[in-house]
Amino acid sequence: MKNFSFQNPTRIHFGKGMIARIAEEIPQTANILITYGGGSIKKNGTLQQVREALKDHASITEFGGIEPNPSYETLMEAVAVAKQEGIDYLLAVGGGSVIDGTKFIAAAIPFEGDPWTILSDNAEIHQAVPAGNVLTLPATGSESNSGSVVTRRATNDKLAFLSPKVYPQFTVLDPETTYSLPLGQSANGVVDAFAHVMEQYLTIRENAPIQDRYAESLLITLIEQGPIVLTQPEDYETRATIMWAANQALNGLIGLGVPHDWSTHMIGHEITALFGLDHAQTLAIVLPSVMHIMREDKASKLLQYAERVWGIREGNDQEKIDSAINKTRAFFEQMGIKTRLSDYGIQESAITDLVDQLKRHKMTALGENQNITPEVATRILRHAA
Ligand code: NZQ
Ligand code: ZN
Repeated sequence: MKNFSFQNPTRIHFGKGMIARIAEEIPQTANILITYGGGSIKKNGTLQQVREALKDHASITEFGGIEPNPSYETLMEAVAVAKQEGIDYLLAVGGGSVIDGTKFIAAAIPFEGDPWTILSDNAEIHQAVPAGNVLTLPATGSESNSGSVVTRRATNDKLAFLSPKVYPQFTVLDPETTYSLPLGQSANGVVDAFAHVMEQYLTIRENAPIQDRYAESLLITLIEQGPIVLTQPEDYETRATIMWAANQALNGLIGLGVPHDWSTHMIGHEITALFGLDHAQTLAIVLPSVMHIMREDKASKLLQYAERVWGIREGNDQEKIDSAINKTRAFFEQMGIKTRLSDYGIQESAITDLVDQLKRHKMTALGENQNITPEVATRILRHAA
């Protein structure tokens, strides 16, 4: 196990009725900006619960319209509103896009210089406006991590930043807020969480049995419970388990002291930037191909995954690996998410553009061994065609 230092400062309030807890989390005198997306929180009653919890708070402004794959352009409008209103506390209510967008707003408000450089040049963030959130879509883990992904529509740049300054102060995970999710978004969440675990697990063998077995338990749980959500969307225990699994998949714990391979996400971001696919759809396309093309580097871990997660014990090593990849693809398809570029009308001729985007964003040495070069990414995408 490699050395690590770990502190996740986000307080988690989990369970039904827990939205009321935001009253004690946010100072009563705070000048609050509530941020949200396209309006799902109005339809499912979450915004009403938030307003009720904050009824004794003096100053509340609302900013809606943050899109899926939040745009820099819209977020800068929110920054302008926040500066004008003297906002000193942000409350994000929604999915990963609203929470990611709010992290960017929090960092951009006090930022000296061009806020785009936070994304384009990893400019250091010295301070951020404090923020909390109410999560309505279990998927990204953004509710209690330090990451954010923002898209600049004008230039097709979908870029991430990480900063300890944007860890949310608290998050509310109330599984009942997720009953209203369309099936496709519920499925997206399961597949995104699955990919997050895989990208911190499926690398080289490191002597880290706690991280391995915790990762495997999350994968097995997502495989078991994911399909239930599609047929019983209002089953509280299933929603609760999925919400907790997605949180644990990317709150930092399972990735401690082990190598990572975020190539599936980085290649997937380019597919969203150019073709607008949902984040999880891109992962369902890319991950099985990464497993196939990188099978020699990952052989030892792939065999562990095959045996412990899927119970595969028959056949030689190559057959076991093939079977594990096929089962992974079949799981995504079972969740209703297609796994080929062609399923989304993307032609093989687009692969050059996708790889050019990777080069433009300096994503030319991906993977745990930094050997997923543009040439290897091309092979991965061809296999995914
Ligand atoms: O905008 P509204 O009206 O709220 O509707 C949203 C949106 O259309 C809807 N939705 C959310 N909660 C709902 C609901 N509809 C009904 N009932 C509810 N309870 O779902 C749609 C998608 O929402 P979005 O927030 O975009 O989805 P998700 O949570 O999957 O977030 C995706 C974004 O997160 C980034 C992705 O790249 C993408 O931009 N990621 C962030 C990460 C991080 N910060 O750590 C890691 C991830 O890998 C990911 O890259
Ligand atoms: Zn993701």
